[in-house]
Amino acid sequence: MSSTAPTAPAAPDSPLARRIAELDLEALRTRFRDNDEFIAIPGFMPAAGLEPLLAALPALEPRIHRNFIPGHKKGGSTSRYDLDAVAPAYPAFYNDPALLDFLRRLTGQDLKICPPDDPHTYALYYYTEPGDHIGWHYDTSYYKGSRYTILLGLVDDSSCRLEWELHREDAGRETVHGGTALSPGMLVVFNGDKLWHRVTPAAAGDRRVALTLEYVTSHAMHPLRRFVSNMKDAIAYFGFRQVFARGARR
Ligand SMILES: [Fe+2]
Repeated sequence: MSSTAPTAPAAPDSPLARRIAELDLEALRTRFRDNDEFIAIPGFMPAAGLEPLLAALPALEPRIHRNFIPGHKKGGSTSRYDLDAVAPAYPAFYNDPALLDFLRRLTGQDLKICPPDDPHTYALYYYTEPGDHIGWHYDTSYYKGSRYTILLGLVDDSSCRLEWELHREDAGRETVHGGTALSPGMLVVFNGDKLWHRVTPAAAGDRRVALTLEYVTSHAMHPLRRFVSNMKDAIAYFGFRQVFARGARR
């Protein structure tokens, strides 16, 4: 599939497309802009759309890579390569023309799907052990353009909260603090270089699974930044084998 092909307006031929058609896009666009490119939309994904994503979770369990960076993050992840291998519902969702058309209209950007060698294109984050969390950070774009992060709540039997600070870098505006549980079906969309955010630590017995998607405005990336990005993904998320030797798993 071409990453730059224009998509048709959402057609009412799937539960997700029907849901999108019901949304007040102009109100969402206004809120997204007022929040300096951030929005959380509870109940975005209908139950029928969540179902195939949830049904694929058991097949992914053996592939979860646990990571721990003292003082910054702890949790589990599965990369796009694992999702491609055993959970085709995830790439299908990522490439859904209705979703991409919605995101382009929400952001006002000609969003492109990521290149096939980006392990973060779509991935799952697991917060399933006590203390699993990620500290305050930006989702820095290693591409020459902007990087947009999309989060979709899949499972949330947890006390974890996604917390954020809006307008943090804008001396002319007061910083706005916010937070929410990432309830199943909730969609969060933000410009990774603008939203300062974290996920608070899980308690014993918690289980939280979130899907993350990444879209960009340019595929261009300096080779050195590609190396830095791969190192970050290997250490903090998916492991060296997934990022640098994924052919060995196929
Ligand atoms: Fe993040």
